[in-house]
Amino acid sequence: MAKFVRQVFGLFLCLHCVTELHGLFMKFTNVTCESKDLNMGTVEYCELKTLGKNKNSVRLRYSMLKPVFGNIGFHFQLMTKGSERLDGTSNWQPFLYAMNLDLCRFWKNRQNYLARMVFVLIEGHSNLNHSCPYSKEKYIAIDGITNTDVSNQIRGMPLAKGFYALFTKWSTDNITRVLTNFYFEVLSV
Ligand SMILES: *[C@@H]1O[C@H](CO)[C@@H](O)[C@H](O)[C@H]1NC(C)=O
Ligand SMILES: *[C@@H]1O[C@H](CO)[C@@H](O)[C@H](O)[C@H]1NC(C)=O
Ligand SMILES: *[C@@H]1O[C@H](CO)[C@@H](O)[C@H](O)[C@H]1NC(C)=O
Repeated sequence: MAKFVRQVFGLFLCLHCVTELHGLFMKFTNVTCESKDLNMGTVEYCELKTLGKNKNSVRLRYSMLKPVFGNIGFHFQLMTKGSERLDGTSNWQPFLYAMNLDLCRFWKNRQNYLARMVFVLIEGHSNLNHSCPYSKEKYIAIDGITNTDVSNQIRGMPLAKGFYALFTKWSTDNITRVLTNFYFEVLSV
């Protein structure tokens, strides 16, 4: 009897670990970059890269034409796609509340949970990963974030299958400079 219980329990654990391993799977569907101030920065590249049937990555780079010392605002919001509008355009709706972050302050205390999650995703893939100022950089880049890494990192998030986007907006001195949106599809959960 004890053996049977152990086996059933073992099976349960194993199923659990299988769903863990094959949990959430997402793929990037698009990435868009826009500079709102061409005196500050321009888009050098901004693209999806296909690495295999189920693997892709995003990379993007903005040239930085002026040093940035402080007052950097990072605004981001996870969106989900509603049904299409009558004219056929996408209808993006908020999925989580919008976050407005003072980036320089964040680097000092790292207290914002959602922001921590976003920055973990780009860790090792971006030259944004240091405290203010950004005065020596010639560019700001995010390079080679793969869907497989992101899938693992957001496994715990309660996302259903469907289309999502992370809308981001960067400002300095309270003026929007750059808009970058990451689009993805959750294919399985
Ligand atoms: C990505 O978005 C841009 C801008 O909306 C659009 O022009 C482009 O066709 C899209 N690419 C894909 C692969 O959907
Ligand atoms: C930032 O990322 C680069 C490239 O991955 C790495 O070499 C560097 O040590 C990181 N710096 C910090 C402060 O984490
Ligand atoms: C930034 O601009 C917004 C909207 O114009 C305004 O409500 C807010 O008070 C401004 N913040 C700062 C720190 O100036």
